[in-house]
Amino acid sequence: MITIHERRFVLSTKENTLLLRVNEADKLVCDHYGRRIEESDLEACAIPAGMPAGRQVIYDETKSKKISLGMIAAEYGTPYKGDYLSPMLDLTSDKGRVYDFVFVEAKIRPMEPMIGYPTPRGASEELVVLTRDEKMGAELELHYVVYEDADVIGKFAVLRNTGEEDFTIRKIMSSQFCLQDAGYTIHGNYGNWAGEFQRNETLIGHYRYEFGSDTGSSGDQHNPFFMIKRTHSTLTTGSVYGFNLIYSGSHRAIVEMDSFGMIRVQQGISPQGFEKVLHPNEEFMTPMAVLTYTHNGLNGICDHFHRFVNDHVIPENFAYKPRPIAFNNWEGTYMKFNEGKLKSLAKTAAEIGCELFVLDDGWFGHRDDETSSLGDWNLYKKKLPHGIEGIAAYVHKLGMKFGLWFEPEAISPDSDLAREHPDWAIQDGVHDPSLGRYQQILDLTKPEVRDFIVEAVAQHLRTGVIDFVKWDYNRTFSDLPQSGSFCHDYILGLYDVVGRLTKEFPDVLFENCASGGGRNDLGMFSYFPQGWVSDDTDAFERAKMQMEMAFGYPPSVMSNHVSAKTNHQMLRKTSFGTKFDVAAIGVLGYEMNLNDADPIDIKEFKNQIEFYKANRETLQFGTYRLLDVFENGRQIVEMADKDRALVSYMNYLQNPHPGNETLPLTGLDPEAVYTYHVRPEVHSFKTFGSLINQVTPIHIKEEGALVNMLSRRRGLDAEGLHGEATGSTLNSGALQIGRQWAGTGYDESTRIMLDFGARIYVFERKK
Ligand code: DGJ
Repeated sequence: MITIHERRFVLSTKENTLLLRVNEADKLVCDHYGRRIEESDLEACAIPAGMPAGRQVIYDETKSKKISLGMIAAEYGTPYKGDYLSPMLDLTSDKGRVYDFVFVEAKIRPMEPMIGYPTPRGASEELVVLTRDEKMGAELELHYVVYEDADVIGKFAVLRNTGEEDFTIRKIMSSQFCLQDAGYTIHGNYGNWAGEFQRNETLIGHYRYEFGSDTGSSGDQHNPFFMIKRTHSTLTTGSVYGFNLIYSGSHRAIVEMDSFGMIRVQQGISPQGFEKVLHPNEEFMTPMAVLTYTHNGLNGICDHFHRFVNDHVIPENFAYKPRPIAFNNWEGTYMKFNEGKLKSLAKTAAEIGCELFVLDDGWFGHRDDETSSLGDWNLYKKKLPHGIEGIAAYVHKLGMKFGLWFEPEAISPDSDLAREHPDWAIQDGVHDPSLGRYQQILDLTKPEVRDFIVEAVAQHLRTGVIDFVKWDYNRTFSDLPQSGSFCHDYILGLYDVVGRLTKEFPDVLFENCASGGGRNDLGMFSYFPQGWVSDDTDAFERAKMQMEMAFGYPPSVMSNHVSAKTNHQMLRKTSFGTKFDVAAIGVLGYEMNLNDADPIDIKEFKNQIEFYKANRETLQFGTYRLLDVFENGRQIVEMADKDRALVSYMNYLQNPHPGNETLPLTGLDPEAVYTYHVRPEVHSFKTFGSLINQVTPIHIKEEGALVNMLSRRRGLDAEGLHGEATGSTLNSGALQIGRQWAGTGYDESTRIMLDFGARIYVFERKK
């Protein structure tokens, strides 16, 4: 809800209040953003102007002798009038570079879709604060959108040229927000290919911190999502602010603490190289930044942002719609496949219970490796003599949906498209363009290129045999043309393309992919309901990435696959059980040569999928809570709904002196009784090496033929936990789960986890 009290504006969500005020100098400031306050107490919350400190510039003595722009909790900042912190806007024109916007009026009005950008649905109204610099002929509108149930505030800005001369935008951020009091830490992420979403924590000192992406996409280096938390906050307690940007291009977050301990936080389009001339009567709109606050620690941020993404960002027809279990052929075959191979994989995939078969890279042009054919979206007949329709019909007959891989924004120099349209790839026209993965990127600022991409994909979708599209994007920008807004215009072009395709094919499920998680952001999730988290399918690495990503994004957007036992990215070996226990948190899939699997593995996959189907709603849409973190030697994640909780436990390193362990469950119905059990898992005999001889009547040679043969058919139970307890006892964290293997014996309470091993515990409300 939004209310206006003369020069004060109160924006309330379920738990929070954002309190804005126009101060004596006619500048918009933030008096409070945090837990809800009473509307009768607005005066008590007003930040006093105080006395100007030391050498501060007094902004306008006629209005107030106390106000210096460098010291107020400003909602927008421009330079050269006494504010020396990072400016939200940097403008120049022939007239000069001092732009001084003052309050004109504020209105509450119905929320309209933003022009050119994806707009989260479900906000009824917005507050629009108009400010103006009469002398420079410029207006700045600050927009505040309330997503009440999710406790999220959306912020964006519109800059308008109301004068008679051009001016140039060198920087324009979507949001500026000031936090009082020191003692905060930035909790963000860093990463790269096959290692996205690594935790990145920095205690905020008196510096300016800038992070983001200048790669042309939101990137895997620093996702636009980050948090600022009270340094002593925990998973469940303490003040935490969450930030994200509904944008898929180069972006920047700026966090700066002044000498008085005030922290200014900005989010928006990266100013690196950005330059946009605004002619008279033109306007520029920024993408929307989103902010949330919780006093319930990091899990509180998960709660707010998960609801926000599921309820307001994901396309409505896919919100809470169960996502299918995929089989993807990539790590199973890479580009070395033919119709026969695909068919036999599809057959096994259907047998184990997969619901979707995705044909990945290599089905078009003459693509046998990475060096050719991107842009030539016609069939590679040698591999698929019966066409896409042929393989799709086979898959459909097996009862699965059919999905196809595209990388529509890319172009290989060795392609008919490049030969026909040498000017369609991004290039500066001066230098030889640099390649990435042997390819270039199409210039989506050109309308004819956008039309080509839409048609190239749509011609396949119009056959009606494709139910799913994996949309890949495998390199970063280089060789930018001269236009200072090129990167931004590209993203608007991309939104045009994906907007047109998802509108024409509303029932096709699109999976977002950029070499893994190179563009998993709220902009893309506004069109594509799920995203491939990373090309690293190792269970331990994946679990870490899922945890960091889950602070900002719900498991329903995270696609994860069970892959070969020896992981291709890490060469780390983990059991299929462990791989499943991690991949099941979110959208499950399988990606390996299934036809190499042993009978015992096939049986295990069938059990896993049966388990997943029975618990899918909870695993995709349940309430996510992180119960423990790797620093404590284990990562525990709970997904819960009204009837059950599923707890995924990932062990770090095997400990020679394991202690007793409890499960710190939370959120169960205290009045209810729950039965609990561990999802049955077996360990291969090979796990025990020559130790197995202690329990076998005949001698078994480690890694010998006999143990290999036995391991293909049978294994040893990994753990036997089961029982019954009340929700209140379970919530109190008193459930004992038994000690881990310590090398001194084995009984049914022993938990054999191993290095990087995982497990799922199931709690079901008793009827
Ligand atoms: C990168 C993706 O992340 C992989 O899953 C796979 O689709 C390859 N591209 C194909 O080139």
